[in-house]
Amino acid sequence: MRIVVTGAGGQLGSDLCRMLANETVIPKDLPEFDLTRQGGEDQIFDARPDVVIHAGAYTDVDGAERTPDLAMAVNRDGTARVARAAVRAGARLIYVSTDYVFDGTATVPYTEQDVPNPLNTYGMSKWLGEQAVLASGADALVVRTAWLYGHHGKNFVKSIMSAVRREPALRVVSDQRGCPTFAEDLASALLALMAKNVSGVIHVTNRGDCTWHEFAEAIVREMGLAVPVAPISTGEAGRVAKRPRFSVLNQDRLVSLGIVMPEWRRSLAQFVNRQASGSFTGGGA
Ligand SMILES: NC(=O)c1ccc[n+]([C@@H]2O[C@H](COP(=O)([O-])OP(=O)(O)OC[C@H]3O[C@@H](n4cnc5c(N)ncnc54)[C@H](OP(=O)(O)O)[C@@H]3O)[C@@H](O)[C@H]2O)c1
Repeated sequence: MRIVVTGAGGQLGSDLCRMLANETVIPKDLPEFDLTRQGGEDQIFDARPDVVIHAGAYTDVDGAERTPDLAMAVNRDGTARVARAAVRAGARLIYVSTDYVFDGTATVPYTEQDVPNPLNTYGMSKWLGEQAVLASGADALVVRTAWLYGHHGKNFVKSIMSAVRREPALRVVSDQRGCPTFAEDLASALLALMAKNVSGVIHVTNRGDCTWHEFAEAIVREMGLAVPVAPISTGEAGRVAKRPRFSVLNQDRLVSLGIVMPEWRRSLAQFVNRQASGSFTGGGA
């Protein structure tokens, strides 16, 4: 199969490209491939893909409040371009979206039927991207994930791992609850979904949920350290973008397809141990 992966140099894209080694992978990313240009659509079409996995995105949640035009150009308009290319090529499309499409007012995990109501520009741009995909006529699957971390690029786990080596104590937000997700686990699930005839929207995260504070404590514990982590409120953290207080995603649809994600603490332990020992040997895109 010929598989185009956008965002091939990102956290998820790197793992996807590595795990798709037995297929013909056509990696796409900046600077040669730009989602904000018509040429991006043509490059995907010209690759004659059977499947397009669209993981490329503007992912800086606070930055999106400062440069909303760029976030929309990449996540809304760029995704519409990818969808048009998939339709022209007759390719199946898998679009990776986010828990931040929800406003966080729920008290039980969000299902695929719940109606999004994004609180911030990033979430809005991704939701508009979802709508472009679902309206495009492509054979498409929208995969919403959350709180992603992997061996490539910057993420919360790496930030905490480096902060505990510098700081005597940490302060982390304790009033936002979500689902940490290891990029390798998500990549495996995407490959499993690719092999099935599934369309529409599906939620895919590691199993279980926590606050950022509980997540940070688990990271510190996994490192075998005793650095204190103080809980703080979202207001005290003073971030630019609003974030949902609760964005846990219901996994029933995924489980009904026979795909059960690893529990978040187990995957975190694996990640921290590999990072700490420098034993990660996978190549990036
Ligand atoms: N990270 C999370 O916590 C999280 C949570 C929920 C959902 N998601 C979604 O999951 C997917 C993968 O996330 P990730 O963490 O792997 O993201 P990432 O590491 O930020 O990777 C995104 C990739 O897209 C590229 N990109 C940005 N602007 C582009 C443009 N104009 N044209 C082409 N490529 C462009 C980036 O290149 P540069 O690095 O050069 O900018 C990067 O390689 C995204 O769709 C994201 O929205 C992420």
